[in-house]
Amino acid sequence: MELASVVPWGRNLAEYQAMFNLSAADLQKTILGCGDGPASFNGEMAQQGRRVISVDPIYAFSAHQIQQRVEGVYDTVIAQVKAQSKRFVWRNFADADDLGRARWQTMTAFLDDYDRGKADGRYQAQSLPVLDFSDQEFELCLCSHLLFLYSEKLSAAFHWASLRELLRVAAEVRVFPLLTLAGDRSPHLDPLLSKLHGAGHRARIHTVDYEFQRGGNEMLVITGGA
Ligand SMILES: C[S@@+](CC[C@H](N)C(=O)[O-])C[C@H]1O[C@@H](n2cnc3c(N)ncnc32)[C@H](O)[C@@H]1O
Repeated sequence: MELASVVPWGRNLAEYQAMFNLSAADLQKTILGCGDGPASFNGEMAQQGRRVISVDPIYAFSAHQIQQRVEGVYDTVIAQVKAQSKRFVWRNFADADDLGRARWQTMTAFLDDYDRGKADGRYQAQSLPVLDFSDQEFELCLCSHLLFLYSEKLSAAFHWASLRELLRVAAEVRVFPLLTLAGDRSPHLDPLLSKLHGAGHRARIHTVDYEFQRGGNEMLVITGGA
């Protein structure tokens, strides 16, 4: 995996709580964060005495390398947001620069925690669609801004294999958002819902109190063994 092919862009605990409608009881569960990248969710949970395991291929790299990549994509991402600002809901951020400051703060918090968390096994370099965990090792898996968002790059087969793997290792899987980068409903969503139901899973779409991509306020919740 090449770090240059990844856009590491991270969200914080409050955003994870909103995106995934996490209750106090949810936060007590054994949690796997899949594709957590430079999010500060894991580190903030650790500060509260909770142990989250995060997997992401970028965890094969050093803090310095990840920081360089974040710095490398920063101006481009902010410029893209500015150019397409009508596609976003400016409720939690005043404008693209305010968003950039918030993301930078999150990524700094992640980097501050990274070496400690890696030594502690909280950040593991692993990639979908195959994970090195036992069956049902986690009560809850959260997957933010990876599946569905990158539908143009990641095939339907990759999505199906990834969801099956996440359901192998976790009793419940929540995925957010259900839109592509262009802001459209993912073309993989409806066929995957049919396949999940056909395989005996319960798969429901829930509205959540988080919307940055316009129309992106839904998460997929999947439970039940096949
Ligand atoms: C846009 S970031 C989202 C980070 C975090 N989940 C958040 O919402 O703040 C997408 C992340 O997915 C990771 N990723 C890419 N391919 C992956 C794979 N096959 N398995 C797991 N993570 C992957 C990237 O390295 C990147 O850190």
